[in-house]
Amino acid sequence: MAQGQIVAGYLAPHPPHLVYGENPPQNEPKSRGGWEQLRWAYERARATLDELKPDVLLVHSPHWITQQGHHFLGVKELSGKSVDPIFPNLFRYSFNLDVDVELAEACCEQARELGLTTKMMRNPNFRVDYGTITTLHMMRPQWDIPVVGISANNSPYYLKLDEGLEEMDRLGKATAEAIRKTGRRAVLLASNTLCHWHFHEEPEIPEDMSMEHPQDYNGYLWDMKVIELLRQGKTNEVFELLPDFIQEAFAEIKSGAFTWMFSAMGYPNIPAELHGYGTVIGTGNAVMEWNLIKAGLAQAA
Ligand SMILES: [Fe+2]
Repeated sequence: MAQGQIVAGYLAPHPPHLVYGENPPQNEPKSRGGWEQLRWAYERARATLDELKPDVLLVHSPHWITQQGHHFLGVKELSGKSVDPIFPNLFRYSFNLDVDVELAEACCEQARELGLTTKMMRNPNFRVDYGTITTLHMMRPQWDIPVVGISANNSPYYLKLDEGLEEMDRLGKATAEAIRKTGRRAVLLASNTLCHWHFHEEPEIPEDMSMEHPQDYNGYLWDMKVIELLRQGKTNEVFELLPDFIQEAFAEIKSGAFTWMFSAMGYPNIPAELHGYGTVIGTGNAVMEWNLIKAGLAQAA
């Protein structure tokens, strides 16, 4: 078997509003659009993903929360209805997932070897969380690429900040090793919002874009600073700032996907491609790409 590799990573946030704005047949609620800047950003990301021709998409979602350890979807075919508990008026989505169980098991095993608590999720009736579904739908609405779903261990919210993120660093290294060993051509999706300060009330028409703007000016400034550094390829600098960013902007990257993805890619100091930025109920969201083939760090198909 040829050695596997990670060909790209994307920051691919999951506000369910984006799926709601797209009106795919799988989602029950219907809209008149909305959040176009972000939906157009995803359109650009989809085009580059298509060129990469990956075997598998791996997604780490903050909304599959596990109290003990890191869990992996472990059922070949999962279907059902995913509902956002906060916005059930916007997201009731019928999903059908093709899971790459072999790679998931390899990730689980490698992570265990690195000292993490891990578990395979074998419940055939499991309801996949809206974060996983939204990120995957926005990146690949055709649903024709197998996936690996990884839970968010909730420990960063209980432990000291660095302890939780150190685990994510190890989870990233384990993921990269599992990809190498199984020979997969893989794309990583970090399903994270940036600044997470949000409004507490929804407009009467949720997609009324005259009501949409950053909730917090300081949080917005943080987002711009982090995005600009990432666009310049200053990854190390961003990771130095991460604790302050998380603290001041309540950044959702606290839940670990961003660290997991960068660790798996080896923290490359390469310029990110920004596909777009926009707010959703006041939170800051960027769709960004780190293409390891263009950077000469992975081989083309
Ligand atoms: Fe979220």
